[in-house]
Amino acid sequence: MTKSIPRFRHLSIRAYFVNRHSWFVFLLNALFIFQFLCEFSKMRRAIYPGSFDPITNGHLDVIERARKLFDEVVVAVAHNDEKQPLFSLKDRLDLLRETAGKIDNVRIAEFEGLLVEFARKEEAGAVIRGLRAVSDFEFEFQMALMNRKLDSAVETIFLMPKEEYTYLSSRIVKEIARLGGDVSGFVPACVAKALSRKFG
Ligand code: PNS
Repeated sequence: MTKSIPRFRHLSIRAYFVNRHSWFVFLLNALFIFQFLCEFSKMRRAIYPGSFDPITNGHLDVIERARKLFDEVVVAVAHNDEKQPLFSLKDRLDLLRETAGKIDNVRIAEFEGLLVEFARKEEAGAVIRGLRAVSDFEFEFQMALMNRKLDSAVETIFLMPKEEYTYLSSRIVKEIARLGGDVSGFVPACVAKALSRKFG
């Protein structure tokens, strides 16, 4: 049996405490670094919601602008059945996947219910809306303020598309297509084809 030498006993006890202390400091540091990395690596994500019935070049312009400001932009199609869309939800999603879905850091999704709930679920801090003209403002203003009331953590950001798209809307594109007009300058090629299949 080894006998502890009284002369060194206090030294070994001190070493034990020093060690325990250094482990504690090490763990604290690790926790701090972990928290810092979590904060630092948090994605800045935005939701771009809409009916997208169908997607137009104006929408794509807004997506291009938004994706430069955020790590990820989730283009989210609302179920919005009361609007009686021309394209089914599946068709709208397919057209979005074929166009916006091919852009880097853009993801296509669908949502039902409140937009703020969806934003929360996606851990998105912002909602993107395109603002074309003063006529858009009243509805957009009301929606942004209501969404803020529902969840103050979700910020609405308005982006202006190129001037040449200020008169462009899904509704007007559908009307032109229905009346046999050429919509190829306003929508991606796959959307123009889908419209001519509907009205052709
Ligand atoms: O392209 P649209 O039709 O202008 O998009 C409108 C949309 C889908 C963004 C809006 O109707 C919406 O957010 N619907 C989800 C339901 C909701 O959260 N309503 C309260 C908003 S004030």
